Amino acid sequence: MGCGTGKNTIFLLKTAKKIIGLDFSQEMLNKAKVKVIDGRVEFRKSDLNKNWCVEDNLADLITCSLTLEHIKNLNFIFNEASRKLKPQGYFFICELHPFKQYTGSKARYESESKIVELETYTHHISDYISAAKANGFELKEVDEWFDDANKTEIPRLISFVFFNNSNCL
Ligand SMILES: C[S@@+](CC[C@H](N)C(=O)[O-])C[C@H]1O[C@@H](n2cnc3c(N)ncnc32)[C@H](O)[C@@H]1O
Repeated sequence: MGCGTGKNTIFLLKTAKKIIGLDFSQEMLNKAKVKVIDGRVEFRKSDLNKNWCVEDNLADLITCSLTLEHIKNLNFIFNEASRKLKPQGYFFICELHPFKQYTGSKARYESESKIVELETYTHHISDYISAAKANGFELKEVDEWFDDANKTEIPRLISFVFFNNSNCL
């Protein structure tokens, strides 16, 4: 989800039999298609805020990295994920830690003359867990990732592994 230029796609290819990368930016997908040339990978243009262009009950694993910061409605995301995953599939999420967001950190990029900040949403840790639970997911793991492994600073990233129980109920 939000595969961008396919950086993580390359890593996932170490074990995946098939990967579908979703992103709503044609520019990002164009770069990904140049970077990742492999018959097991398909990139599809898809807005994650609308029904995803993926068959139901398809995936063993959905991964999402640095994308939910740009998505307002977490409930919709977990609902779609529960339908696209096979029963007992996994949903891995790694995002900018909300503690970092509380200090004002946001996704940004440099244009020719200035730094542009993107529209972002703060999701509290409880927001992720509540939306997951409401859509039949069980939390399996949560981790916090620090710059240079320095645990005296605010963590940069938070990651979750959720298990899809929704089709087993
Ligand atoms: C910061 S990049 C992360 C890219 C990649 N996941 C990574 O970790 O390198 C965020 C990506 O999310 C995509 N994105 C943001 N909102 C989206 C939406 N509503 N639907 C689909 N993709 C979206 C952006 O186009 C961008 O490629």
